Amino acid sequence: MVNARAKYGVDAPGILTGLTVAGVAELVLAAVLFGVGWPIPAVVLLVGGIVLVAGAALFAHTTLRGKFRVWDAELDRLGLKGDEQVLDLGCGRGMVLLKVAKRLPSGKATGVDLWLTKDQSGNSQDATWANARAEGVADRVELVTGDMRDLPFDDATFDVVVSSLAVHNIPDEEGRAEAVREAFRVLKPGGLLRLADIRFTRRYAEVLGECGAADVEVRDLGWRFWYGGPHVRTVMVACRRP
Ligand SMILES: C[S@@+](CC[C@H](N)C(=O)[O-])C[C@H]1O[C@@H](n2cnc3c(N)ncnc32)[C@H](O)[C@@H]1O
Repeated sequence: MVNARAKYGVDAPGILTGLTVAGVAELVLAAVLFGVGWPIPAVVLLVGGIVLVAGAALFAHTTLRGKFRVWDAELDRLGLKGDEQVLDLGCGRGMVLLKVAKRLPSGKATGVDLWLTKDQSGNSQDATWANARAEGVADRVELVTGDMRDLPFDDATFDVVVSSLAVHNIPDEEGRAEAVREAFRVLKPGGLLRLADIRFTRRYAEVLGECGAADVEVRDLGWRFWYGGPHVRTVMVACRRP
């Protein structure tokens, strides 16, 4: 469930604003064209406007509700004992990190991030600490400012590594591959990786295969994790370190 006092922001706020503004503009223009007696271009704009506004609504639902529900189910399925060390790559304001922390009464959830506001609205380490306090788990959370491509942790430190919608923000192919290799490096033998993303997921799975990962799996996370429609769907890459 979403704690009313914790505030998790909106993913890619520029894209949500763009979809909403473009959709409303097309609907207004369609109304004007109907008014001046140009029905065919008006219908085209009407359909386009409806698609864009529906996409914006779906995007908003995913970022404000859907992704929370999907991650609750994913974390429940991990069957954590409660004493694990878990790392969240690109934790942002803590949506996954703090859900993990709630499941770790005697473990620790570590979040690493660069706190980029273009990737999540209001993103900052202070905002994540405020959410950790609001969720009542600040005592089992650690926040680290760092780059996923060069993690400041020893090999085999974590029982579980999670990440949601973060790795695709790295602009180049080699950087994304480096982040995936780093995620695998810091996993303990027997450790689990759960990496959800909207793009490049087949490549992440290939890189994990090259690293020697076991049980590599790529699966769709369903409509509740669509960013605007089925063309931007979130996929989970899962594996185990042998
Ligand atoms: C869309 S947000 C997702 C945040 C959070 N995982 C969630 O699902 O709510 C992507 C996050 O990745 C972070 N990020 C982007 N590039 C990064 C990098 N190279 N290293 C660490 N964090 C990065 C951004 O600062 C942002 O917090």
